[in-house]
Amino acid sequence: MPATPPVRRQRILITGASAGLGAEMARAWAQDGRDLALCARRLGELERLRDELVVAYPDIRVSVHALDVDDHAAVDATFEEAASALGGLDRVVANAGVAQSGSLGLDDAEGNRATARTNFLGVLHQAEAALRIFRRAESGHLAVISSMSALRGMAGPMSVYAATKAGVSALAEGLHSDLWDSPITVTAVHPGYVSTSLATAFPQPIFMTSLPRATRAVVAAIEREAPRAYVPAWPWVALALPMRLLPLGVYRRIAG
Ligand SMILES: NC(=O)c1ccc[n+]([C@@H]2O[C@H](COP(=O)([O-])OP(=O)(O)OC[C@H]3O[C@@H](n4cnc5c(N)ncnc54)[C@H](OP(=O)(O)O)[C@@H]3O)[C@@H](O)[C@H]2O)c1
Repeated sequence: MPATPPVRRQRILITGASAGLGAEMARAWAQDGRDLALCARRLGELERLRDELVVAYPDIRVSVHALDVDDHAAVDATFEEAASALGGLDRVVANAGVAQSGSLGLDDAEGNRATARTNFLGVLHQAEAALRIFRRAESGHLAVISSMSALRGMAGPMSVYAATKAGVSALAEGLHSDLWDSPITVTAVHPGYVSTSLATAFPQPIFMTSLPRATRAVVAAIEREAPRAYVPAWPWVALALPMRLLPLGVYRRIAG
């Protein structure tokens, strides 16, 4: 149980750091002097980001790692490699995600499987690898990027995506309980709609937040290390309870 105020986590690994929220979180923590291990499949994007960050903040260390989180052996090896590069890891942000799903029984079966693999199995792989390192060090913080869509089942292109995020949130809550008496903390962050390329897959986005505002809220929530956060707080904290309680017929007309 995190009874003491969160410590400063100096060495942070971020997956999905080549774009969107992951790249912006990297910029925010670099500005604050943190050392970073940046992971994604597109190594060129990571190298460009590393070059930008080390020029702007010459005192930080940035390592880059080509990684597909669907590959559990690669996740294990890459997290160990990143820990060696930075002399350990204090925080892992499991952020990599896709939204390729569609209505079941139509033409989107492979997109649905890809979404399930990356968004759920990928997070499982990352949690296993991170917690192995944290248990060894008897310290660490795992943050998983879930979504407000985790709160209810959703229709059409959101159905598998929302189901994976519900799974990720349940996994994070279980890990938080499992590690209750340990020095390791776990956080599930639930962003609402954020203006990134991933969000173009969402058919009915409401209260879309700009990437800079969403990043500030996500980073602040991760720094607090609470088990669960809805971000940005306005409007998503206020909406979380009605989202859970509204009758399905009403909810589906609003949220899709
Ligand atoms: N945008 C929203 O409205 C929203 C709302 C709630 C939650 N989220 C969550 O926030 C996270 C970040 O999303 P975003 O909006 O920033 O999307 P984004 O701009 O599309 O970025 C997604 C990142 O994930 C990486 N990625 C995807 N599949 C991967 C894989 N198999 N292995 C490793 N990296 C992979 C991508 O890098 P490569 O292609 O280089 O691998 C990219 O860096 C996701 O988990 C998403 O579900 C987003």
